[in-house]
Amino acid sequence: MNFKFCFSALVSFAAATLASAATLTVDVAKPGATINPAMWGIFFEDINFGADGGLYAELVKNRGFEFPEPLMGWAKLVPPKGSGTVTVRDDKPFNAANPHYVRVQSEFDGPIGLSNEGFRGIGLKQGESYNFSARIRNVSGTPKLTIRLYGGDGAVLDSLELKNVTGDWAKYEGALHPNETSAKSWLAVIVEGKGTLDLDFISLFPAQTWKNRAGGLRADMVQALADLHPGFLRFPGGCIVEGKVLATRYQWKNTLGPVEERKVLVNRWNYEFLHRPAPDYYQSFGLGFFEYFQLCEDIGAQPLPILNCGMACQFNSSELCPLDQLDTYIQDAIDLIEFANGAVTTPWGAKRAALGHPEPFNMKLLGVGNEQWGQEYIDRYTKFAEALKARHPEISLISAAGPSPDDTRFKFAWEKLVPLHADIIDEHSYAKPEWFLDSAHRYDAYDRHGPKVFMGEYAAQSVSTVNVKNRNDFECALSEAAFLTGLERNADVVRMASYAPLFAHIDAWQWTPNLIWTDNLRIMRTPNYHVQSLFSRNRGDQVLPVAISGASATESKRTYASVVFDAATNEVILKLVNATAAPVKNTVNLAGVKTLKHGTLTVLQSDDLVAVNTLDNPTHVSPRVSEFAPAAPTFDLTLPANSFTVVRVGVVR
Ligand code: AHR
Repeated sequence: MNFKFCFSALVSFAAATLASAATLTVDVAKPGATINPAMWGIFFEDINFGADGGLYAELVKNRGFEFPEPLMGWAKLVPPKGSGTVTVRDDKPFNAANPHYVRVQSEFDGPIGLSNEGFRGIGLKQGESYNFSARIRNVSGTPKLTIRLYGGDGAVLDSLELKNVTGDWAKYEGALHPNETSAKSWLAVIVEGKGTLDLDFISLFPAQTWKNRAGGLRADMVQALADLHPGFLRFPGGCIVEGKVLATRYQWKNTLGPVEERKVLVNRWNYEFLHRPAPDYYQSFGLGFFEYFQLCEDIGAQPLPILNCGMACQFNSSELCPLDQLDTYIQDAIDLIEFANGAVTTPWGAKRAALGHPEPFNMKLLGVGNEQWGQEYIDRYTKFAEALKARHPEISLISAAGPSPDDTRFKFAWEKLVPLHADIIDEHSYAKPEWFLDSAHRYDAYDRHGPKVFMGEYAAQSVSTVNVKNRNDFECALSEAAFLTGLERNADVVRMASYAPLFAHIDAWQWTPNLIWTDNLRIMRTPNYHVQSLFSRNRGDQVLPVAISGASATESKRTYASVVFDAATNEVILKLVNATAAPVKNTVNLAGVKTLKHGTLTVLQSDDLVAVNTLDNPTHVSPRVSEFAPAAPTFDLTLPANSFTVVRVGVVR
């Protein structure tokens, strides 16, 4: 389709005969609030196999045999007549932190061994290279050790032999090159000939990771994040910060250093939703805090770590750390700031340097607790704030306001946090599209002198909150676009925003909707992703006042507008949502502008409100860009039915 023709047909200029239903007057001469350059960001949590089985590119599940069922994800390949044994042991391990390993004892010629199913299969691409590694110890004999990749149909895709295994634990490596692409492959480790081998930390990574780092991140997933031009990255969650009980909370210090020393922990989404159980969901912490900071740096996002504040998830145990024992938690926060920003001569700055990053990460934001609520939270936040503000007034603290944007927990939090002069309050909303349309003016009435707002988790729910039938449909995306115009217009109050959750594996999700869906080989950006991207990639520096007049009652209720100025390019950027089922003709008046320059028009539109993108058809709902060159600062613009339009146009004032 000729998009240029298509969209220029929708646009007519002042000279044309289209009648205007409404006039949008933008006062370009009177810029308002300054927009936080880091306003539009990313929320990351290891939910839906977002980290293990997702962003973290390890292809072997339970590589160290440390799940409570040590052979979960593995199958023994033992011949029927019993010519050997495969047993799990923990005596004389190569690593005391993760002590379990497997002993394969082959009594005759074999073969005998074990196979790994990956994370709902192993995704392999023909023509790419995969790095296998394992810790191995020869106990007796000189058995042959073969590593083999099988396709989903059982065909051998490639194999390699590891030789000269010695009697001490050592790392053995080799490269595999599958001769076919397969999303559901599996890995086999096969011993042949009389003898015994111990095996641990069996790992397979694509050679082509993000920036080709060994043991790194899945490149296509990071690229999707980088393409958002995110202002910040919030990590590691989400409820995962809290743990079902405090013992299973996220502890950042346990996520540093050699990956084989990072102690495996249950993922709280393993058992959270009984209707979507994931008994094989554990945290390897291969994606740990150093890697999160590095990722932020890679994609130009400010790091926003969230730490446990001495409260386990209030939807689960609600376990509390007593107030007089909070010191460890507060010290974790102080140490984290030193780890991120401290000189290399400080203890934690030195640890950062030892990991290969002597330069500071320039962290400016820190979340105290995730989605907590009640007096218990206020008590703990107060202690954190006192300690952190005394030592690090340069760090802005994010405080919680519970899981809902308007219930008693939310109101209580605001009542208590205002007198405490909280910096930024984290609001959450998972609601129907109507809530997002109706809430586009929510922040117009907020106190301009109170705490700032971080709209830290939100997503329109097509059916109801946490309903498994929720879909990332176009109606949800459009309602989010309408809501975001309200956030941007109120950029003096709302300083940051992020959609949640971020990633979901199509075969392993617990929660829907999500911004980006993947399988073992592919990735799909939802319509909601495109909304995020259009806001983030069209951020400006200052809000421009916009007034709508002359619209019909329905149109004025369902037309949403936000306009900003981009000083670097001298452009006015209009973001306009028409959430009615008919096109709306507008006259746009850029008051205070002498002449216009060349621009672009980007439209995200669908006549089908339930339209979705899929892994097979990932671009079904996508933005379409055309050139835009109105002749004068007053021009006509027709917003298609159910559409989100972004206009960028250079101006001479
Ligand atoms: O985004 C999914 C979950 O929703 C987050 O973990 C939690 O903070 C919220 O309840």
